[in-house]
Amino acid sequence: MRVLVIGGGGREHAIVWKLDQSERIEKIFTAPGNAGTALHGENIPVKDNDIDGLLKAVKENNIDLTIVGPEVPLMLGIVDRFQDEGMKIFGPTLKAAMLEGSKVFAKEFMSDHEIPTASYIICHNRLEAEDITNGKEFPYVLKVDGLAAGKGALIINNKEDKRDAFQTIWVENKFGKAGDSVLIEDFLNGEELSVFAITDGKDYVLLHPAQDHKKILDGEKGPNTGGMGAYAPAPLGTPDVIKKVEEKIIKPVLKGMRKIGNPYTGVLYCGLMIDNGEPYVIEFNSRFGDPESQVVIPLIDSDLVDILHSIALGQLNKGSLKLSDKFAACIVMASKGYPGSYEIGKTITGLESKHDIKDSNNGAIFLAGTAFDGKNLRTSGGRVLGVTACAKNLKDAIDEAYNHVRKIHFDGAYFREDIGKKGFELNDS
Ligand code: AMP
Ligand code: GLY
Repeated sequence: MRVLVIGGGGREHAIVWKLDQSERIEKIFTAPGNAGTALHGENIPVKDNDIDGLLKAVKENNIDLTIVGPEVPLMLGIVDRFQDEGMKIFGPTLKAAMLEGSKVFAKEFMSDHEIPTASYIICHNRLEAEDITNGKEFPYVLKVDGLAAGKGALIINNKEDKRDAFQTIWVENKFGKAGDSVLIEDFLNGEELSVFAITDGKDYVLLHPAQDHKKILDGEKGPNTGGMGAYAPAPLGTPDVIKKVEEKIIKPVLKGMRKIGNPYTGVLYCGLMIDNGEPYVIEFNSRFGDPESQVVIPLIDSDLVDILHSIALGQLNKGSLKLSDKFAACIVMASKGYPGSYEIGKTITGLESKHDIKDSNNGAIFLAGTAFDGKNLRTSGGRVLGVTACAKNLKDAIDEAYNHVRKIHFDGAYFREDIGKKGFELNDS
């Protein structure tokens, strides 16, 4: 089978790395890809928002299956477009992807279908927001409706936060159209968990529950990032919690989406807050997480092509998924200054042999913001790479990942020192 993966981050490298282990794969293409995906096939220089260009590439290269990594092409309706052209593609249609694309849609859907989430009010301008928040107890959350590259949720802890948030949303209009509607949400207490359901709209299978580390500094301090590391299975996702997630969230979402005529296919990423064993939805995403993919995908013991292809054909092959009984940890190495401004072009050492990157029984290095200049591997983004290790217990996975991290160098390399610590504290293994 000839497969195209759309995207160019660590998540896409993890997907491509896993696909490359399948005997069914004839050739893997990635658009636009990165230095890591290039090790497993051919990178096609077409951006993820160029739907015409992607369609052309699929036709020219006789691609049998397209897998969408990031949200941007989903919000441009790539799945509808490809399906209209008779192409097989893994991902939700535009209307289904609105569970991620519009927080207002997602909230109203959850309230219509009694799916547990924080209480909220929708407002459309500064005056309305002033009215609603006057006298409202801190903390609460302001969330813009549209896509905001993970920066659209502002936690309001005090008057200063409120002033800054109002300034950003309504004076500077920083979010543009995405901020036309804003949710004012109650603050949820608890621990965050990411649960991924792969679904054909009716049936689904779950990957191991994972925990991301969103803040730049140890101890969940400092500004939000795309994610500085992850581990799985997260002990927070006990069988009891996962059962509740299935009964109270995943099944009602799939049923509800079918009922409104927008069956959801692809990956349903449930970003959850677990409070005293009860799950609440923080947000849905219509794609795999990054960096969660870099831990949940290596923990799939079966052929990833079988399951993704079965969804693209319209019917999930449930038996095709087998999960490992190991644990995985991924440590993200970032450029100095990230998530603010940072320099690129730094030479990465410690990864000279392809072997280090491509094959390892115990994990892999997943490249993200990297470019190969013909001689050296260089940094080209904020999150540069993720080092994943797998082991029989979480502590060994974390230790092994850090051992690898300490062998990799580039000027200003930054990583958190406490990835997985929370899970390790919860997990005695
Ligand atoms: P979102 O863009 O909705 O994923 O929010 C980004 C991050 O903000 C989440 O991962 C949480 O850490 C935090 N967050 C969002 N909504 C809430 C909420 N209602 N209560 C507490 N934290 C929240
Ligand atoms: N790990 C957060 C995200 O993928 O949105």
